[in-house]
Amino acid sequence: MLTTDPCILVIFGASGDLASRKLVPAMYEMHVAGQLHPSTVILGVSRTQKSDDAWRDELKSWVERQVKKFDAAKYAEFARRLFYFAGDAVKRECYPPLEARLAELAEEKGTRGNLLFFLSVAESLYEPIVERIDEAGLVVEGKRWCSIDPSTRSWQRIIVEKPFGHDAASAASLNRALGRAFEEEAIYRIDHYLGKELVQSMLVLRFGNSIFEPVWNWQYIDHVQITAAETVSVGQRTAFYDETGAIRDMIQSHLFQVLAFVAMEPPSLYTPENVRAEKIKIIDSISVPTADEVATHCALGQFASDGKEGAYHELAGVAQGSTTETYAAIKVHFDNWRWAGTPFYIRTGKKLAQKRTEVVVQFKPPAANLFRKVAGFGNETPNRLVIEIAPKERFNLRFEVKVPGFGLRGANVDMQLDYADHFKAEPVEAYGPLIVDAMRGDQTLFKHRVEVEGAWNAVMPFLDARSAAARAGIRANYAVGSWGPAAADELLARDGRAWRNEP
Ligand SMILES: NC(=O)c1ccc[n+]([C@@H]2O[C@H](COP(=O)([O-])OP(=O)(O)OC[C@H]3O[C@@H](n4cnc5c(N)ncnc54)[C@H](OP(=O)(O)O)[C@@H]3O)[C@@H](O)[C@H]2O)c1
Repeated sequence: MLTTDPCILVIFGASGDLASRKLVPAMYEMHVAGQLHPSTVILGVSRTQKSDDAWRDELKSWVERQVKKFDAAKYAEFARRLFYFAGDAVKRECYPPLEARLAELAEEKGTRGNLLFFLSVAESLYEPIVERIDEAGLVVEGKRWCSIDPSTRSWQRIIVEKPFGHDAASAASLNRALGRAFEEEAIYRIDHYLGKELVQSMLVLRFGNSIFEPVWNWQYIDHVQITAAETVSVGQRTAFYDETGAIRDMIQSHLFQVLAFVAMEPPSLYTPENVRAEKIKIIDSISVPTADEVATHCALGQFASDGKEGAYHELAGVAQGSTTETYAAIKVHFDNWRWAGTPFYIRTGKKLAQKRTEVVVQFKPPAANLFRKVAGFGNETPNRLVIEIAPKERFNLRFEVKVPGFGLRGANVDMQLDYADHFKAEPVEAYGPLIVDAMRGDQTLFKHRVEVEGAWNAVMPFLDARSAAARAGIRANYAVGSWGPAAADELLARDGRAWRNEP
């Protein structure tokens, strides 16, 4: 088993939704799986006053609710790793007592001065908290990565959650603020999509086999679809969503990471540096649409009322005349040799027909159809690889075979690998293995500064004034339980293609 260094995981925003619902339950799973160093502890920081025990009790019900297999004895063991510190992390006076508490825990538990900060607070607090951490002198490692023996130096790292900026300029500003306090090697921009098994498996499928890579290019692939469909609405924080929208919330962040894994070149070796270098390159080669192209490269929508909930524009918290999209489909082209002319269509939305995250790789038809004169032979292009990321974890490869019996008739069939059936493994919360990677110093599945800024640059035309035409008339333009607005179907129909909407 891989080992992790002992450390204190300092979660800013300890009493918030993300910490309670995801981070701490994920750490419980990592504890049960033996992935945490015995000395590692978690210090939650929020303004609300509470004792260590009160926090442990509060979290118990969250962990019970969130994990598949809860064990009270194991929780009691895990709870001994949990500590709480009440303080306003934006204020300077918070830091001397926080530093003292960290030193006390380090001494008592033997965490060797290693600190892993996790910013689980509102985005507006990221920069001030990073500044305070820096001013307080909590980051002492310096250029650890190039020191003579990095293993003998303590480390201080920081995990930053999305939203990573609101646009290209704010992302660059946050990167500069982080860079003033931490080395790039110590900054872990987390994306829980990269913690998903099937997303990681995509790299193994592509580069661990010899049969896919030779056809993984414009010559054989007609197009790629990436879908992240949700059946739920925008949630409690409508005002927050109204400032965000589907492109920021899903496409710029998670789906571009999936896109990078589908489209990137093979790294020379599976190392953090090599994988990240290829991701940077592929994001950088996205062809940014011109102002004239924006309307034909995207389809945006807002859900209508379903009788139970109002239409998006009627919800409390949504600004009057809001043109924020609850549905977005965009067409992406790469300016590179592998993908010249092959479009990637990315779509996501709320209140759609089905909860589904998947990648569809549609291959081109065979070079010549020798069955064209055989009656009953389908004209469909058969070869398609569907990678289902959630809620099912499956690979489906479709090809054409002869139907048994007299005469020659063809049929499309699917060969399927279902992860749950085959590996009998329970999926774990994606945050857990990623946080453990940060404890190990492995940045493979985290985003580099350049990649984040590149992803913002690529979506900005769909977000700023250039998208005005695509936003006109989006109010209630798709029915709840549908696959989105008609414009999304037209986006593909114009290219002679259609979305995979079948169950
Ligand atoms: N929730 C999710 O599933 C999710 C998913 C992806 C990304 N995110 C992002 O993750 C971050 C946290 O989200 P959330 O949903 O957990 O937010 P939240 O429920 O509003 O929690 C925010 C937390 O920050 C604490 N806090 C606020 N001001 C503070 C300060 N000055 N010093 C110390 N603590 C402070 C709050 O507790 P006190 O009031 O006690 O201080 C609370 O614990 C946000 O940036 C969000 O966009 C969340």
